[in-house]
Amino acid sequence: MSETVQHLVESAKIYQMVTERLDLIQSHTFESELIEWILDIYSQDEPPVEGLQKFSMPQVMYYLQASHKLYLSKTLPEIEQSMAHIQKRHDDTLLHALILFFNHYKIDFLEHIRMEERDLFPYLKKLHEIDPQSTSKEEIATLLSQSPMEKFEHDAIEDELKRVSDIIHHYCGHEEVPLPFKVFLNQVEIFEMDLRKHAFIEDHVLMPMAQRKEAELKALI
Ligand SMILES: [Fe+2]
Ligand SMILES: [Fe+2]
Repeated sequence: MSETVQHLVESAKIYQMVTERLDLIQSHTFESELIEWILDIYSQDEPPVEGLQKFSMPQVMYYLQASHKLYLSKTLPEIEQSMAHIQKRHDDTLLHALILFFNHYKIDFLEHIRMEERDLFPYLKKLHEIDPQSTSKEEIATLLSQSPMEKFEHDAIEDELKRVSDIIHHYCGHEEVPLPFKVFLNQVEIFEMDLRKHAFIEDHVLMPMAQRKEAELKALI
């Protein structure tokens, strides 16, 4: 495959990957510039973060929530389906190690998403909607005192998935990795990449927006 064709195939895959989640929350229209920027971050290691203030916090949150939906309704079930498929032919120690790892990982991952949906996003929505003109200083102070922002950390959630590759190579040693495990590994690596981009948007776009808003409100009380 020529480099240009390869590049086109890659871009089409990324485009499909990003846009398929938007169909999950059809009721919202997305700012096309935000989607363009998100597509860019999938193709760059260190995407520029300047000029992102023009996007609104709710828009960024809709996108992140759409991603959560995609992970829960498609990505995780597909990975589990692959494990079940492998189990039909390779019921061995490698598979058991992977199942054990993945079940633990899933618990932490679901808890992380739950925390964002239950604590972080509703707080940020209030932060976005508050009108300092018609809100008392006490109410602003009460809202700010409920900030859950310090609780958020991503490193563990992303790094843990890298262990799938370690586990597979540990059990295979110098032997070639059996094909079904290669397919599985590929699926997990794409998920890991997606999660890294997801965490990047949360840490470098959403959090700075929220911190700016908190600072503005703090200055008023
Ligand atoms: Fe998230
Ligand atoms: Fe997160």
